[in-house]
This record gives sequence, structure tokens and C-alpha cells, in this order.
Amino acid sequence: MIEAAEYQHRRDRIMAKIGQGTAIFRSAPLAVMHNDVEHPFRQESDFYYVTGFNEPNAVAVLAPHHEEHRYILFVQPKDPDKETWTGYITGVEAAKEKYGADVVYPIGELSEHLPQYLAKCDRLYYHFGRDEAFNHTILRHWQRCIRLFAKNGYGPTGIEDTTFILNPLRVVKTEAELNALRHAADVSVLAHNRARDLAKPGVYEYQVQAEIEYTFARNGMTPAYPSIVAGGENACILHYIENNRQLQDGDLLLIDAGGAYQYYNADITRTFAVNGTFTKQQQAIYELVLAAQEKAIAEVQPGNPYNSFHDIAVCVLVQGLLDFGLLQGDLDELIAEEKYKPFYMHRTGHWLGLDVHDAGPYKVTEDQWYSFQPGNLVTVEPGIYIGPNIKPAEGQPEIPTEWRGIGIRIEDDVLVTANGNEVLTAGVPK
Ligand code: GLY
Ligand code: MN
Ligand code: MN
Repeated sequence: MIEAAEYQHRRDRIMAKIGQGTAIFRSAPLAVMHNDVEHPFRQESDFYYVTGFNEPNAVAVLAPHHEEHRYILFVQPKDPDKETWTGYITGVEAAKEKYGADVVYPIGELSEHLPQYLAKCDRLYYHFGRDEAFNHTILRHWQRCIRLFAKNGYGPTGIEDTTFILNPLRVVKTEAELNALRHAADVSVLAHNRARDLAKPGVYEYQVQAEIEYTFARNGMTPAYPSIVAGGENACILHYIENNRQLQDGDLLLIDAGGAYQYYNADITRTFAVNGTFTKQQQAIYELVLAAQEKAIAEVQPGNPYNSFHDIAVCVLVQGLLDFGLLQGDLDELIAEEKYKPFYMHRTGHWLGLDVHDAGPYKVTEDQWYSFQPGNLVTVEPGIYIGPNIKPAEGQPEIPTEWRGIGIRIEDDVLVTANGNEVLTAGVPK
């Protein structure tokens, strides 16, 4: 549970960064209807990070220079008739009480009240997001400010994207965030362990998926992303989500599934033999991916540049493919020319947090990577995919049949600590 004081602290940090600016954050729009049926609502992560407010059709404004109101919320007003159909609405009064805003207005009064928070700022901070209609609203206010500047001699002279303000904050997790992330990880570990017990030849992929998502639901969680339950050669399709095949004796099963707790996500992949025994080739690739992952995890250390764990994983994987005769040539050249890409086409990880592919800088200048610091949370997920129709890179050998159809990925969630790292998802055996 993230307390009101933490949200206040986040807003204070943002306001310190924007100085005389005004920042505007848009919630997710109204839940999308499909043929009169609503999709589940999911708040915009930046808006949620700033407010903790979980309703659509809202706007948050931070105006540190304003004389009366520094934190302003626009929300849907209470509407008992509507609530009968679409669920509870907090409303203007309760929102002020509960979410700590200096003033709360009904969303319908945005155009009336927003100008006073823009008039005297020196910059407008806004992320042009997926709500096109709202983007236009902001542009109209912006154009008005520009016209007024000529008359008044003051007003905002530029728009900056809030991404550059929020990303450096979101990429370092607080204790309260880590509590939520640890809970998401713990339940996801349990889900994976139950799934492995269930998966046997004859079971369908969707039955394994059901076991996983049942565990999430039992713990008040939802899938963080569509669960991937990929038996046999389906594991070579990175985002396989059909999950409708019957598992066969001799199959590997790749499960990439994680739960979300209060919007904080876990992201775990394990691959194992459904009959309990690897073939020689399966075992060789598994041990290679595991070695790559162990070496990569060891690179997740404060001070190390972000690319170091990917680079070491690629190095280990390519050396292994050379040893097995699946690649031929010089290690450094194969890496420089990316001849390994038919086997390993994605990067080794990403930031994890309120989004599965979380906010945060990867690079800080054109030639400088972000340096890990305590509180960063990253996935480490090397893999090897030898699709049934794999096409080797130019000049590389054809792949013998006994290697084809093997897809293996191992993914853990790794927290950077003061002295090294902690694997939050270590409870699923490898
Ligand atoms: N499950 C999505 C990912 O691993 O990035
Ligand atoms: Mn991932
Ligand atoms: Mn994943």
C-alpha cells in the first residue's frame, strides 16, 4: 500500500524539478466500450504515480508557483444514476479529502479553471499521450497562452515532456513500491510452482494458464500481461498467447507469466521438460541459457552500465552456439555482425515496475548508458530459440533437425541493492 504521504513526496520532488512550470497529467480515458461492454479500466501509470487516483476522466495539475493551489485535481463528479451502471465514483468532495489536492473541480470545468494555472508559469510540462482529444484540449490552451503573452509579457514559452521529469524518479523504487513488487513476485512464484506441478503430457496449455491466473486471482491480482504458455515449438514464438495446444511427451514448456499487485508487476519465465527429462539437445541449450543468465545477473550491480548484463549474456550464448557447432567463426566477429540473431533476437531485459516494460532511461547520452543504482529493478531474461524453420545468418551452417523446435528462456526480476543485487523471483526452481 502506497501511503498518501508518499504521493505527496513524489509531487514535491516533481514540483522541485519544474520550478516555475506547470505540469499536467491525464488519467486513462473512459474505459473503452466494445459493443456496449466495457473493458477493464487500467490507469495511466504516470498519472497513478503522481496521484494514486484510480478513476478515468481525470486531470492532475502541479503548479508550484501558484499563490493558492499547488496541486489541483479535476475528477468526475458523483452521479448516483451513472454509478448504478458503472461503479463507484469518488467525486469532488471525497477526492479532496482522500487525495490531498489543494482544490478539486469537476472535470467539466477544466477549460474554465485551467487557464489560471497556466497564465504565470514559465513552461508547460505535458506528455502528448494516447488520448488524442485531450491532446487537442492542451494545444488549444497552449495557443491561448501564446496569444496572451504578446499582451501580458508573461506566460509559458515552451512545452516539455513530463517523461523526462518522471522517468528518473520511477526508475528508482522506494521501500513501499518494493513491498508491492515483492508481493507481486511472491504470488507469481507460487503461480509458477503450481503450474509446473500441473503440467504433464496430455494437459492443455490453457489449463496451465488457468492454474496460474487462478493463483493470481486468489491473491487479488491480475495478469501483468497476457500469459505465455508455450509447449514444444510454440516456445520459439516470443509472444505466443494462443495457449491451445495439448502438451506432448518430449515437449519443453515455456511459461512467461507474472501478476500485477496494485499495478506493480512481476515478470517471470521458466522452461522445463513436461515429462521431467530433457533430451540431450534440450539439456545443452538449457544449461547454456542458465549460464548466460547467471553471468548476466552477476553484472546487475550498482555503478555498472545498463548494457553490461546484455553484453555478457550475448557473449556466453554465442560461445555456447559455437561449441555446439550451431554457429561457426570468430566469437567477436559473430557478435559484431549479429550472426546470433536468428537464435537470440531480443534484448536481455527491461525495467520493471508500474509498467511491465517500465519507465526509465536506458541511455543518458548518445554514448553513455545509464548506471545501475540501488532501487533499480530489471528483468534478466536470456533465451535461445531454434524455430522449426530457422534460417541461419549468411555463411552460417544449416541447423540439424535434432536441434530444431527448442525454445528456452529463463527470466527473473533482479533488484539492485547497495552491495549487489537480490533476485526477487528466486523461489521458482531453475
Ligand atoms: N513478458 C514480457 C516480457 O518478458 O518482456
Ligand atoms: Mn520481461
Ligand atoms: Mn516475461
